[in-house]
Amino acid sequence: MAESQNNDAFVEFERVQKSYDGETLVVKDLNLTMPKGEFLTMLGPSGSGKTTCLMMLAGFETATHGAIKLDGVSINNIPPHKRGIGMVFQNYALFPHMTIAENLSFPLEVRKIGKSEREEKVKRALDMVEMGAFGGRRPAQLSGGQQQRIALARALVFEPELVLMDEPLGALDKQLREKMQFEITHLAHNLGITTVYVTHDQTEALTMSDRVAVFDDGRIQQLDPPDTLYEEPKNSFVAQFIGENNTLLGTVKELKGDQAVVQLDDGELIDCKPVNVSAVGDRTRVSIRPERVEFNKDRLQAGAHTLKAEVLEFIYMGDIFRTRLRVAGNDEFIVKTRNAPDQVRLQPGEQIEIGWLPQDCRALDA
Ligand SMILES: Nc1ncnc2c1ncn2[C@@H]1O[C@H](COP(=O)(O)OP(=O)(O)OP(=O)(O)O)[C@@H](O)[C@H]1O
Ligand SMILES: [Mg+2]
Repeated sequence: MAESQNNDAFVEFERVQKSYDGETLVVKDLNLTMPKGEFLTMLGPSGSGKTTCLMMLAGFETATHGAIKLDGVSINNIPPHKRGIGMVFQNYALFPHMTIAENLSFPLEVRKIGKSEREEKVKRALDMVEMGAFGGRRPAQLSGGQQQRIALARALVFEPELVLMDEPLGALDKQLREKMQFEITHLAHNLGITTVYVTHDQTEALTMSDRVAVFDDGRIQQLDPPDTLYEEPKNSFVAQFIGENNTLLGTVKELKGDQAVVQLDDGELIDCKPVNVSAVGDRTRVSIRPERVEFNKDRLQAGAHTLKAEVLEFIYMGDIFRTRLRVAGNDEFIVKTRNAPDQVRLQPGEQIEIGWLPQDCRALDA
């Protein structure tokens, strides 16, 4: 195969496979190209191979097959201290016997940087995470969130070109996590650092990233910017993993260009957009977001198919209303509506009809 001559490729995984035991592949066929300065998140369920990919990129694990390149050079050929990779782990991994300033100075000493330059860089890194006053303390004298900031500062202190973060905010409470999400993305973008971030929190992935790679079963299922991932999932796994989705099983009845009619298993017909179905007769799982379901018929296209639904539960959530319906035998069908002054509050027991625009309902693999 010809070498790719893509100048935008700062990080490259080419057909990477990984097995720890020589039998099962935990990473099956990974292809990924990241331009410089990108913030990319690896998102996926536990055991899907995210940490393994990060460890291979850091050079702590070797790929069983394939190549990993940093700025065009195979990672295997770059000695560790020349890799210019900063790492942040979930458990901070600060040295407990050293002060904060000594913790930050350590990666610089390893790189043989002189004392005065070290002091200057440590100060700058501490100021960057607003921890300038804490240089003399030890890690145990800081809160969890403060330790996390120090871990971040330590990963950035030697001005790495690439930063790898493995669930760095997992131990923090919700409020602090959201604050740190914002700080990390701003720091990364302001400093022009290329970042690979690992999480299994989909909101974190959507809000922080330029692109998200959704992992399952050792493969990237979809790699796209957050809005594309949410609005145009390519398969049922991604549709159900990212955000909330209603799904109904059926069979393709008609297929014309970018519109399909699907017959649900209880016999009713609905309009959808064929995504990964290819022929009439294919089994499919159709997927529709709760905010795209319409029960005001005036807003549907003329001739649109509708489904009968029974209202099971109305939940007031402040900014939105969440209504649970029984649709085609599914008791967990959710509709979300904005709390606007003229919005209808559906009552349990009501019989209604629902529909949607064909492009909002995706016919995916069953
Ligand atoms: N050092 C190791 N030796 C053997 N098997 C390993 C090793 N590290 C990970 N594995 C296995 O490889 C698979 C992928 O693990 P990995 O840690 O990459 O998953 P992950 O996506 O990071 O999961 P999590 O979200 O739980 O952190 C798992 O089945 C795991 O048991
Ligand atoms: Mg992991």
